[in-house]
Amino acid sequence: MNYHIAIDGPAGAGKSTIARRVARELSFIYVDTGAMYRTVALYLIRNHVDADDEQAVAAALPRINVSIAYENGEQQMFLNGENVSGQIRTEEVGNMASKAAALPCVREKLLDLQKELARTQSVVMDGRDIGTHILPDAQLKIYLTASVETRAMRRFLEQEQKGVSCSLPEIEEDIRRRDEQDMHRSIAPLIQAPDAVYLDSSDLTVDEVAEKIKALCRQGI
Ligand code: DC
Repeated sequence: MNYHIAIDGPAGAGKSTIARRVARELSFIYVDTGAMYRTVALYLIRNHVDADDEQAVAAALPRINVSIAYENGEQQMFLNGENVSGQIRTEEVGNMASKAAALPCVREKLLDLQKELARTQSVVMDGRDIGTHILPDAQLKIYLTASVETRAMRRFLEQEQKGVSCSLPEIEEDIRRRDEQDMHRSIAPLIQAPDAVYLDSSDLTVDEVAEKIKALCRQGI
């Protein structure tokens, strides 16, 4: 039987690091659904489509083919056949993804791809609405969060490490805006599923969070 772990939470909570790690250690597939929204967002940016203009976005969607492949266990995102896995990792794309993800037509487009990935295999899937909408029957649901200050500092250090200069107050402001958008939209907002385990990673290491999730998973098997 396939085992599904849903990890939801706000931007910068460490979902992808944790989900990737847990998936590798359990030999499950890691599915990063944010990357799918980012791929759509990249198309919108490149083609100057305004995400506030729902009609324009809906008209663009048939021209956007989002596909996914795994290379050495790493999820690769393709936009109309082009591997854009590197290009989708900017703050600009993240902000556009958050805006576009509030539109029902965009969510509808990505729904089947996400469900299909989980249909035939065991997955750790992360996002905002995985436990609430995409995998409502997941055997384990985690709501992973951390304080705004912790999430901003993690982002700041990550950017510094990449050699990208940035300002901590700006990152913090960005995270607050993303939280606002992702938690208060009318369709599939980020909320904790009633049966999700709440994990605050502010004072925990990656190891500690991953161990907790694996322990919860073992209890459930
Ligand atoms: O996890 P991320 O930062 O890569 O996601 C980018 C945006 O995509 C996020 O701000 C909201 C949206 N998103 C969503 O609405 N639902 C998901 N399941 C995943 C991401």
